[in-house]
Amino acid sequence: MSAGNIESAKIIIDGKEYLAPVFCGSEGERAIDMMKFRAQTGYITYDDGYGNTGSCTSGITFIDGEKGILRYRGYPIEELAARSNFIESAYLVIYGRLPNSKELEDFRNNILVNAGIHEGLRNSFAGFPPSAHPMAVLSAMLNALGCYHPELSSNNRKQDLENFDKTATVLISKVRALAAMSYRFRQGFPVIYPKRGYNYCENFLHMMFSMPGEDTQVHPDIAKVLDILLLLHLDHEQNCSTSTVRMVGSGGANLFASVSAGVCALWGPMHGGANQAVIEMLTEIEATGDDGSKFVQRAKTGEVRLMGFGHRVYKNYDPRAKILREQCHKVVDTLGAGDPLLKIAHRLEDIALNDEYFQKRNLYPNVDFYSGIILRALGIPLNMFPVIFAMGRMPGWIAQWHEMASRPGGKIHRPRQIYTGECIKKFVPLMERE
Ligand code: CMC
Repeated sequence: MSAGNIESAKIIIDGKEYLAPVFCGSEGERAIDMMKFRAQTGYITYDDGYGNTGSCTSGITFIDGEKGILRYRGYPIEELAARSNFIESAYLVIYGRLPNSKELEDFRNNILVNAGIHEGLRNSFAGFPPSAHPMAVLSAMLNALGCYHPELSSNNRKQDLENFDKTATVLISKVRALAAMSYRFRQGFPVIYPKRGYNYCENFLHMMFSMPGEDTQVHPDIAKVLDILLLLHLDHEQNCSTSTVRMVGSGGANLFASVSAGVCALWGPMHGGANQAVIEMLTEIEATGDDGSKFVQRAKTGEVRLMGFGHRVYKNYDPRAKILREQCHKVVDTLGAGDPLLKIAHRLEDIALNDEYFQKRNLYPNVDFYSGIILRALGIPLNMFPVIFAMGRMPGWIAQWHEMASRPGGKIHRPRQIYTGECIKKFVPLMERE
């Protein structure tokens, strides 16, 4: 599709003109197609951090960062959070349309019956020290999981695509089981399996906190808040971890290996580790008796970052944060305990939103600002917060891998670089170097 009546962009280098095709997405986003630019001119385009680079076209998620809009497969996030649930929206994200009741029932059932973990894989937990971060464990276990399903992880693209439906439900089910098991192994607690009659999030809380013969009482409101939180994390177009999943998959790697790499990419504090970092920041602020203003001053000098604030794409309030802000109060009300960190979080938000530094740079609270507080209220251990993010993001990674893998003529992702190192013609043997 051309961009309105503009067909091409003219680039002039050294007096010579080059015409690059221009095209347009379904929401009017415009792009200059630079795929043949180097071959025609000898130049590459330089874009450190990829802030201005479209690595693919995609029909999964739409974000308008200026207006604060997020849609999955065309549906506004606010509609889905209010009327759908995590599993139904996961189906939507993966298959591109809402399921009918039979499809949804089958999808749910396949997720339930795939929760079992092979005894050999289960034994692998013993190989990690108790201090291992659960994201390191999760990434390793997801990759190892592929070894227990060789028919689904063949690295034969045709076969991996033919088995895609099965792989998708195995991963959505087992990421939950592996997450809960890694926590329980660290605690020395026995493994708990999901129950029929519980939904995805009720079962996760059951698998985390029940004891043999003594089921934890899962409050439906609490499970619902967790469900909304996962739904809000489902997909977010070409972010760091999703690009990693597509990048790894572009070389022909199977879905298990690709999402395992996605977990590593998500782990960092600037990405999915931010929910953990938010609580660490709020705890530090509380411990020093600061009301938030001193920390904000330090953030303005660049000494620290206000975790849970700012976003590469949103230059307006993150729509996911808006929804979670409301949910945050529900959790705190239902659990009946006023978290002192919530008060500090609100104060910090007020101070930052009214400060010129943050206003000028369009720095608003992002999804992690409130998800950290909610997960803490649910009793989820701090280092498990990014694992919850990974559970929510799993269907998005699955959908993005599938979109990438099923594209005819798809290319391996291989960016260029500008070399800035030396050029030394002659090797100096060791003897002559001393
Ligand atoms: N606190 C203080 N200053 C900030 C912050 C922050 N959280 N974020 C950006 N800035 C400043 C930054 O110093 C720079 O200022 P200047 O123009 O004077 O040099 C300006 O804002 C632009 O920053 P940037 O680093 O170029 O922006 P980016 O788009 O590369 O970074 C970000 C986006 C999310 C990595 C960054 O805002 C950040 O580190 N935020 C804190 C971590 C966080 O909450 N991450 C979760 C993101 S949402 C979950 C997800 O989707 O991954």
